[in-house]
Amino acid sequence: MEYKKKKFHVENISTEKLAKKFDTPLYCYSFLKLKKNITNFKNYFKKINPLVCFSLKSNSNVKLLKEIKNLNCGADVVSKGEMMRAIKAGINNKKIVFSGTGKTFSELQYAINKNILLINVETKSELLIIEKIAKQKKKKVDIGIRLNPNIDAKTLKQISTGKEGDKFGLTEKEFIKITKYAQISKFLSLKCISVHIGSQILSHKPYEKMLKTIDHLIKKTNHKFDFIDLGGGMGIDYEKNNKMLNYKIYSSLITKFLKKRKSKIILEPGRAIIGNAGILISKILYIKKNKNKNFVILDAAMNDLMRPALYGTKHQIIPSVKNNKITNKIFEFVGPICESTDKFLTTKKYQNLKEGDFIIICDVGAYGMSLSSNYNVRPNPAEILIKNSKIQIIKKRQKLNDIN
Ligand code: LLP
Repeated sequence: MEYKKKKFHVENISTEKLAKKFDTPLYCYSFLKLKKNITNFKNYFKKINPLVCFSLKSNSNVKLLKEIKNLNCGADVVSKGEMMRAIKAGINNKKIVFSGTGKTFSELQYAINKNILLINVETKSELLIIEKIAKQKKKKVDIGIRLNPNIDAKTLKQISTGKEGDKFGLTEKEFIKITKYAQISKFLSLKCISVHIGSQILSHKPYEKMLKTIDHLIKKTNHKFDFIDLGGGMGIDYEKNNKMLNYKIYSSLITKFLKKRKSKIILEPGRAIIGNAGILISKILYIKKNKNKNFVILDAAMNDLMRPALYGTKHQIIPSVKNNKITNKIFEFVGPICESTDKFLTTKKYQNLKEGDFIIICDVGAYGMSLSSNYNVRPNPAEILIKNSKIQIIKKRQKLNDIN
């Protein structure tokens, strides 16, 4: 994705052309970028040869999942719906791990029927339900137990999941109790210890602490875990300041950790795989001046991209066509939804803009479309994929009739 003769292109196609052809707001993904992300990710961890289970919550478009499957990934799912999508995309059931704090009876039943790789348990009661279903079916079900390692992932508090006060996982004490229970159960096979400390992590230090905690706990339980699921959370460079997770260090920490044991590592990246492979193309509907700033009112809104309104996060906004007429006007990019938090970004220096121009909201491949809603009864945008310079519509724009 780059500018060619002042026009922003995805592979060989200008975003201006795409906007005109497919209308806006429009999610657009680059296959090349997706492939590169997966290849790079696997290379970073080459020595460990982990099972990479793509986290569907970041993006669950079936067509994208098929591409991800073809690039040899499994799936991390948190609901029956996600499990069905993963299976529909052709992902091997033995490469699917099921996490989540509140799995229902029927979801567990479905997972057990499908013989997925692991169900990562988060409460004792959930474990008992799994055992009951397994007993009915006269089979032994492979499970993992999710630990809450009480580690500060040094990320936004809204997306931190491994601290004592967070609802995820079990305390060390509970973990040990459940381990003992599972070890003697005829219908459970304890295969995995799982953690996920948070998302958009840019430092290796929390991961280092996490590995130490797991190491310590494994010694305490004296159990041989076939799998160690370290979750996802690897951050991306939203702010374009080259602040990146040091994969080399993280990978060598895992290698060191594995020296003492022969477990298979599972990693569950979402954002690191798809985050920067997607953009949202939007049209400027109106520009409205007030005393101090200029509201740039887009046709994309918080229902299409929720992250800025939900977490106060920033996504770069770049023009679809550069004009090099830089101005010091303050622009505030907002959407048409009736909420003051429906705003994306405020800029102090930008190129001059006019109504009808197209802009690109960057790095929205993860938690963009998957967090979208029909708030204000707005239909979901279309999604397209550019692969080998060919355009595929991978999800049609929702029709108003379908939601009314
Ligand atoms: N595994 C588990 C168990 C998770 O809970 C998550 C994310 C992942 C893997 C994938 O994390 P990733 O590699 O994508 O960071 N909506 C928020 C992010 C919420 C993440 C929740 N769990 C956002 O837009 O930043």
